Amino acid sequence: MKICIIGTGYVGLVAGTCFAESGNDVICVDVDEAKIEGLKQGVIPIYEPGLKELVIRNFAEGRLSFTTDLAAAVKVSLINFIAVGTPPGEDGSADLQYVLDVARVIGRNMEGFKILVDKSTVPVGTADKVRGVVREELQKRGRDIEFDVVSNPEFMKEGAAIDDFMKPDRVVIGTDNVRTGEIMKELYSPFMRKTNRLIIMDIRSAEMTKYAANAMLATKISFMNQIANLCDRMGADVSAVREGIGSDSRIGYDFLFPGVGYGGSCFPKDVKALVKTAEENDYDFMLLKAVEEVNELQKLVLTDKIIRCLGDGSTESLKGRTIAIWGLSFKPRTDDMREAPSVVIISRLLELGAKVCAHDPEAIKEARKIFGDRITYSNNQYEILKGADALAIVTEWNEYRTPDFERIKTLLKRPLIFDGRNLYEPSRIKEAGFEYLPIGRNGKHFSTAC
Ligand code: UDX
Repeated sequence: MKICIIGTGYVGLVAGTCFAESGNDVICVDVDEAKIEGLKQGVIPIYEPGLKELVIRNFAEGRLSFTTDLAAAVKVSLINFIAVGTPPGEDGSADLQYVLDVARVIGRNMEGFKILVDKSTVPVGTADKVRGVVREELQKRGRDIEFDVVSNPEFMKEGAAIDDFMKPDRVVIGTDNVRTGEIMKELYSPFMRKTNRLIIMDIRSAEMTKYAANAMLATKISFMNQIANLCDRMGADVSAVREGIGSDSRIGYDFLFPGVGYGGSCFPKDVKALVKTAEENDYDFMLLKAVEEVNELQKLVLTDKIIRCLGDGSTESLKGRTIAIWGLSFKPRTDDMREAPSVVIISRLLELGAKVCAHDPEAIKEARKIFGDRITYSNNQYEILKGADALAIVTEWNEYRTPDFERIKTLLKRPLIFDGRNLYEPSRIKEAGFEYLPIGRNGKHFSTAC
């Protein structure tokens, strides 16, 4: 099939590449000329495992091309995926300007039947708006060309995007047209197996499904973070609690890991947008407001522990202290710093007078854009420990899971680890001679530590 993907961000680039990999002719369009030129040379603007190889191969084999010429791409494509950004406006609602701009250009340039697919996460009712602007453009041209708008939300996770796209748990297609539903089904057929489902539903429900999924996952995380904080206060171990509740098939084990709060390009934005949508519809989504508030507070928990152990009670409580940070990106296997808890944690440490030195396998370049020279960086996870007062783990990269503890002990001024991701077994690490402060795993130790 002939496909055009508009927007070469995470979602657009991965979707376009995977559709090309399954044999379609795909044109990826972006307004950013440098990005498009780079992609033609195999320069991938984001770090996503496996993506570079797929882009280069499909480009070389002629199934995948890159252009800034949207009008020309639309003319030759049956299915046009809109995968441009929907940044939060000042009030938290999703800004649809880019989505509607693209729809307008499609309306201005289409010559035959087109399917427009909303792939960006967009509020309920967006498909109607897209339809509206395309109609407007066609009217201006005095043309009556058939077209259809589909909602096809994307559920891929950064760091596992290719796998998620190729082997999705489910594909959701929102359409009110049977023929279009069949075309979309055919497009996705290479990715469907016995174990997953393609679900066709009405457009508004498909739009809502994406927000409901992310809001539900964010709720699980905030819930577990509060359970963990309570465990800390009461001498219970949140890991055991997770095992205990996860064994109930109605609850399940996934997405119940407490930590330093959720971040990234989706959860914070989508939770805010759904709260806003509810407000606009005279409904108070109290639960989600609390989810958001809990998440903001959770970003402070690790620093609170650091202050309690190392602070002197003054406004510059951590003056003269050096904190080594492992992990900057909002989660492992990405260089994405959007809404990363590390930003709040490090800013607070700096405010309190501490020096910060940080390691991350991929995100140092992105972090530099935020912190500049206010912190120091290293590509070596041990180098930053030399002379530091403590190690704080913020992102659970694999390289932090089984480190050389003896080496850590000799490098740190004091064998003190604040673990925002619960990477180690508390009893073992204490045996190894460390003071260890994880999240919700160490109640008794926590109350007596430092
Ligand atoms: C998420 C959704 O999972 C995906 O379906 C959607 O398409 C986009 O948003 P992503 O943002 O890539 O994907 O990351 P994800 O792996 O879901 O993690 C999101 C955040 O939640 C991270 O900050 C992570 O650290 C945090 N998290 C996740 C927890 O704190 N605890 C958990 O148990 C799981």
